[in-house]
Amino acid sequence: MDLQISRAATQQSDIKSQLAKSFDLEPSQAAFDATIDIYAKVSNVIPEADWMRHAPYILAINKLKKEKNAAILGHNYMTADIYGGVSDVVGDSLQLAIAATKVDADIIVQAGVHFMAETSKALNPSKTVLIPDSSAGCSLASSITAADIAKLRAEYPGAPVVTYVNTTAEIKAVSDICCTSANALEVVNSLEGDTVIMAPDAHLARNIANQTDKRIVYWEGACIVHERFTAQELREFRSHTPEATIIAHPECPVDVVAEADFAGSTNDMVRYVRENKPEKVLLVTECSMSANVSAEVPEVEFLGPCNLCPYMQKITLEKILWSLHTMSEEVTIDPAIAEDARRAIQRMIDLKI
Ligand code: 13P
Ligand code: SF4
Repeated sequence: MDLQISRAATQQSDIKSQLAKSFDLEPSQAAFDATIDIYAKVSNVIPEADWMRHAPYILAINKLKKEKNAAILGHNYMTADIYGGVSDVVGDSLQLAIAATKVDADIIVQAGVHFMAETSKALNPSKTVLIPDSSAGCSLASSITAADIAKLRAEYPGAPVVTYVNTTAEIKAVSDICCTSANALEVVNSLEGDTVIMAPDAHLARNIANQTDKRIVYWEGACIVHERFTAQELREFRSHTPEATIIAHPECPVDVVAEADFAGSTNDMVRYVRENKPEKVLLVTECSMSANVSAEVPEVEFLGPCNLCPYMQKITLEKILWSLHTMSEEVTIDPAIAEDARRAIQRMIDLKI
């Protein structure tokens, strides 16, 4: 076993044994029965035997949330036990950012990746924002520095900088406005001038460039989950299953999006399935989302292939309970950076797209 894996395993078992001192986390029929209403919402995607294991954690987390006045913001890529079991608000990056401005709780637990927790903190400087695993990063967020943004500005003087929310607070702070995949086109079109700088997702930028008259210049970052899909695999899939509807996320390469019947943010994808109820669907995005949509729309059949985000997968029920129990890991941002990041995020939210 490599050293890093063995350390992670030790840490995980430490958390488990520490938690066992304060909570009854053994699978039990009593815990199962006490969570039966929650289970009813996800029973078509989580087998009973798995729920037996999850139920004690879900009970403990939901009780702690009440005691501490905490709210859990769960991204669409969370596994179904987190998404359906303990999240108070679920959605895409834009919905979670807006929810963070309205949340009526003293503590926000971000069930998602670190940049999302930073967005919540920037919008709520007085609240405690927790992330259950601070190593839940993002290949896009780590692909660019503030110095890179400065270079882009120098290369294209006067062009506004639109940064994807999948960035650190430091990057948001040096941008003019943020965008998500749900509103990128409208954000770009709302800006003055012919040229717009988009960073850091090159695929999103190219997909937007295909839909706007603006000249888009961009950074060469990519999402490690979406860049793996290929147009060839979608063509093969379609030739085997021509009756399926293919829905892709705009973080996918342009030729992948071109093969799809519809492209949109994770929430746009959910809405498309909810409203159109296609018989069979391929969601060209992170795997966990298919289970979450399937729980809501069981009559739709979800087909592979899909890719897992190793960062999103770091968030587990166990770590959420640990986070609430120990009030760790707290997300902090330098106040000056937070203020500038908030300005760029708020400017996006104020467009009300
Ligand atoms: P959205 O939820 O905004 O579509 O973003 C997808 C994503 O990759 C988040 O990390
Ligand atoms: Fe980042 Fe891609 Fe994972 Fe989203 S799915 S957190 S964009 S690596």
